[in-house]
Amino acid sequence: MKKVYIETYGCQMNVADTEIIMGLLRKEGFERTDDASSADLMLVNTCAIRDNAEQRVIGRLGELKRHKNGQNLLGVVGCMAQRLGASLLDRCPHVDLIAGPDGYRSLGQLILRAGEGDRVADTEFKAWEHYEDVTPMRSGGASAFVTVQRGCDHKCTFCIVPMTRGPERSRRLDDVINEIGGLAGRGVSEVTLLGQTVNSYHDGKSDFADLLRAAGAVPGIRRVRFTSPHPNDFTDRVIEAMAETPEVCEHVHLPAQSGSSRVLKRMLRRYNKETFVECVRRLRDAVGGIALTTDIIVGFPGETEADFLETMSLVREVEFDDAFTFRYSVRDGTPAQKLGDVVSKEVSGERLSRLIEEVRSIARVKNAAMVGEAREVLVEKVARRGELLQSRTRNNKVVLLEGTEEDIGGYQTVRITGTTGSTLIGIPARSVRNELAVVT
Ligand code: SAH
Ligand code: F3S
Repeated sequence: MKKVYIETYGCQMNVADTEIIMGLLRKEGFERTDDASSADLMLVNTCAIRDNAEQRVIGRLGELKRHKNGQNLLGVVGCMAQRLGASLLDRCPHVDLIAGPDGYRSLGQLILRAGEGDRVADTEFKAWEHYEDVTPMRSGGASAFVTVQRGCDHKCTFCIVPMTRGPERSRRLDDVINEIGGLAGRGVSEVTLLGQTVNSYHDGKSDFADLLRAAGAVPGIRRVRFTSPHPNDFTDRVIEAMAETPEVCEHVHLPAQSGSSRVLKRMLRRYNKETFVECVRRLRDAVGGIALTTDIIVGFPGETEADFLETMSLVREVEFDDAFTFRYSVRDGTPAQKLGDVVSKEVSGERLSRLIEEVRSIARVKNAAMVGEAREVLVEKVARRGELLQSRTRNNKVVLLEGTEEDIGGYQTVRITGTTGSTLIGIPARSVRNELAVVT
């Protein structure tokens, strides 16, 4: 077997794409290695969402160059590969091949040609591509990502994704459900449905509400999650399906981006502060105990202190459970690039600090309120630090608890005994094995 080393940056969809790439490369006779120096092929699956994501990749490519020995190949795949295309080959002479998110089917050919000394790229969009016939090579475990939609048809003015992932398309519901059925048969009990505006999913016949209900009905599936939805695509049908499907977890990641209606308009987000808050209200009314997390950008071109205070007020009003906060990063070719009105690094940095402070203090209060409660958790893995296990509640809170590796992949009811602010500490209240749990 030939050996491939692959590093993945960016969002969950890139993680899922790496599994597809591995599925394709397996057919080409590759197996995965964690040792770049012994690999026949080194791949970096990249993100282009912010400049710092790209700088990190450029740095890593420089490091991986050390392992090149005249026999092996170095390839760049994913969003940055798509965005820069062949110009990345000019910029990085040690890179042999390039493939964008719709180009993975060509990898076998690209590897062959690169092996003959050509430097090659496939960055063509294929609006039909779902890699439907490819069996993703998943790492195993109780949880799996399932991509249900690729690309994005929105044109949020700050965002590079429509330029890196191409037009929006949804897989057929039957194909998605077959895949989930297969996963459940191999012990997966939690699926996360992925798409850029996943709740706009529509395969021509069925919408996202149908998909949620069908995913929840697959025998063995106990938790259904999805990311990321767009606030405008929470139709009554979708919210009803969430409320009526017990497997759909009580958590939504709902990107707000800003709390200023003026900025939202310039971002072309197609909602304003009031309609966003209305969406939050509808979700909370329908789904008891739902946790909400979000993405927020500070320092968008022209953002004034008053605009930023609107964002702070939205954060306080909604009381998000957590937020990913970003400093605006200008992306080449996006409409926002032409807006001018740059917010200085000092100002956006200072706003970011204030925002993070606010988000953290709300999260602390929310997490502290859970102390004393009993919650069902899915044990995911050994926690990064120490001997504890990492588990997750239905509302997406991380709970650390004692246990053994045998607990991984199983469900337990834990009592929350404390919080570090961002994560919770729990003790097993009642250990329930996966099989038994399905019966109860
Ligand atoms: N539809 C996807 C968006 C992916 S990008 C989703 O909702 O997950 C993930 C987040 O990155 C966005 O929600 C946004 O907050 C942030 N982001 C996107 N472009 C950015 C930019 N140019 N600068 C800073 N943050 C950005
Ligand atoms: Fe980007 Fe907006 Fe689509 S944030 S991924 S253009 S919904």
